[in-house]
Amino acid sequence: MSYPNLFDLSGKTAIVTGGASGLGLSIAEALAKNGAHVALFDLDQHGLEEAAHRLRKAGADVLIKTVDVADRDQMRRSVNAVADDSGRLDIAFGNAGIGGGPGFTGFDGSRNADGEIGSISDAQWDRVMAVNLNSVFATIQSCAFHMKKQRAGRIIITTSIASFRNQNWVGVPYMPAKAGAAQFGEAGGSGACALQHHGKRHCAWCFRDKYRWR
Ligand SMILES: NC(=O)c1ccc[n+]([C@@H]2O[C@H](COP(=O)([O-])OP(=O)(O)OC[C@H]3O[C@@H](n4cnc5c(N)ncnc54)[C@H](O)[C@@H]3O)[C@@H](O)[C@H]2O)c1
Repeated sequence: MSYPNLFDLSGKTAIVTGGASGLGLSIAEALAKNGAHVALFDLDQHGLEEAAHRLRKAGADVLIKTVDVADRDQMRRSVNAVADDSGRLDIAFGNAGIGGGPGFTGFDGSRNADGEIGSISDAQWDRVMAVNLNSVFATIQSCAFHMKKQRAGRIIITTSIASFRNQNWVGVPYMPAKAGAAQFGEAGGSGACALQHHGKRHCAWCFRDKYRWR
């Protein structure tokens, strides 16, 4: 049995948030190599330009947009612009994320005063929630609007092992933010339920054992 077109994404449009570097850039590269038209969203304008240069050199069809995923209006406008320009939106990779600040302990288990509950500022908490959790709502809602019309689409959210397992060396706000993102994005989770009957697949993924499809 052969599946020559299993990963063929020709004619598909994908958005990758946090696409200027790291995992997002690798994901964008893989999507583009398999034929997708890729839109990279990121805060880092210079990183976006470098990423676009690298992908275009490899023959990819790439668009870049400087977007703060925590700004819902900006996010919605940018998603709409990509979908309107392409005439479709097939894949959304909600991947942008930031660290949660210093952990409660170091890797060696030693206590770290900067990571204790009293040291976490409102601004730090709010920003981590805005980028790692609230943005997932804006991403899923704005992309689903276009995918519903097509009755097809794929939404993938990058979460973390820290979404379901305590990791003391990870900054405290990061864990509840990623747990919320995982619950919202996960198969059978709240976001997936809200999209039932629209022919879409929806999943939250992290590196190890949490990879589920609906
Ligand atoms: N690297 C890890 O060990 C690890 C582990 C678990 C989960 N993750 C998650 O994977 C995702 C990617 O992480 P990475 O390691 O590639 O990190 P990275 O820092 O290399 O990439 C994150 C990208 O997101 C962008 N970004 C940050 N805030 C943004 C915002 N408000 N709006 C738009 N873009 C923004 C950054 O500019 C950067 O290009 C994140 O969601 C992260 O939480 C990473």
